[in-house]
Amino acid sequence: MYQNFEYYTPTKVIFGKETELRTGELIREQGSKKVLIHFGGKSAARSGLLDRIRHSLEEAGISYVTLGGVVPNPHLSLVYEGITLCKKESVDFILAVGGGSVIDSAKAIGYGVANEGDVWDFFEGKREAEACLPLGVVLTIAAAGSEMSDGCVITDEREGLKRAYDADLCRPRFAVMNPELTMTLPAYQTASGVADILMHTMERYFNHSHNMEITDVISEALMRNVMKYARILVDEPQNYEARAEIMWAGSLAHNGLTGCATGGGDWASHNLEHELGGMFDVAHGAGLAAIWGSWARYVNHAAKDRFEKFAVNVLGVVPEGTKEETIDKGIRAMEDFYRSIHMPTSLTELGISPTEEQIERMAASCEQASGGANGCVVPLKKEDMAEIYRMAL
Ligand code: NZQ
Ligand code: ZN
Repeated sequence: MYQNFEYYTPTKVIFGKETELRTGELIREQGSKKVLIHFGGKSAARSGLLDRIRHSLEEAGISYVTLGGVVPNPHLSLVYEGITLCKKESVDFILAVGGGSVIDSAKAIGYGVANEGDVWDFFEGKREAEACLPLGVVLTIAAAGSEMSDGCVITDEREGLKRAYDADLCRPRFAVMNPELTMTLPAYQTASGVADILMHTMERYFNHSHNMEITDVISEALMRNVMKYARILVDEPQNYEARAEIMWAGSLAHNGLTGCATGGGDWASHNLEHELGGMFDVAHGAGLAAIWGSWARYVNHAAKDRFEKFAVNVLGVVPEGTKEETIDKGIRAMEDFYRSIHMPTSLTELGISPTEEQIERMAASCEQASGGANGCVVPLKKEDMAEIYRMAL
């Protein structure tokens, strides 16, 4: 029996060359009076993108304040700063110019302005938000999918805790996506984004549901397509078609489309990665690539048909031997792909070597954040997660 599902994607997508020049007009459509332009470290200023956005807002007669400085694995302290600024300036709309970190920081500020009390409560699971300031996005990296998602991931940098809060309230009103903007990305960030896009699809693909065929074929095609164009980008980072294919796939991978009737999916690798990001500040996609193979080896016995299907339909493995051999070839082919785009397949390659004490701490923290057990393919307890971290060393 297929599972019932809800699919909600309210984000208007403006895709293609020079679309960022329409930002002012898009915000005017929202009826906003005062905007916060939120951005990251250097890239948006260096490329001239911020100037173009400011100009577009000025032409549309929209007043704004700015707040930059968002770092990857965005910090709670800047979220608090943004909330104070928005309240002081009576900001009624937030424009995120950047990637997942900037968008998530903007979402968290939006929650903090629209609700009383400490915004971190939502991330700790203490209560639910009732509202969020509306926001729009000018996307500069194809990766997290936050431009259309209900997700928001923030790091309390004082505690080294990275936590997610999911709610439809924060889905952006619009997302401007010009693939050309991603051409200035360092190769490592491009590849890390690719790993994240694939993982958003895989997290939903691996489950115990009787999946709808349409969902599976969309997911499988999306993954094959992303791998094809990611290989092209290794040698041709300025290839517009490849940038466009991956950018659109990034949004489709995480706007809910690939999760229809999958019962939600697994998400264990994401939760394991969030602990790595909180403790070691690694790039999210690279962290996922480093942990996935160990997760897959640990849990595939519980979902053999799915792993076999993945090997054959996504990685092109020819099923000649036993089911177990096909599964093993599929996992190895996935890791070969990650290596081909210079992504790590172990924690050592990721550049970290957690001690046994750190592994135990991450596993305990992940169990607590997951509310007991992490994932659905095999609901992982603390000991399982510690073992996966060890296998990934
Ligand atoms: O700060 P700047 O100078 O812009 O540099 C950024 C940053 O260092 C750089 N960059 C971005 N666009 C660029 C560029 N450099 C050159 N040219 C450009 N066009 O790239 C670096 C990474 O940026 P970041 O925003 O951190 O990347 P990403 O989009 O991968 O976001 C990662 C964050 O999103 C969270 C992750 O956990 C992580 O914190 N996620 C959010 C999700 C969601 N909200 O739905 C879901 C994901 O699973 C993920 O957890
Ligand atoms: Zn992700």
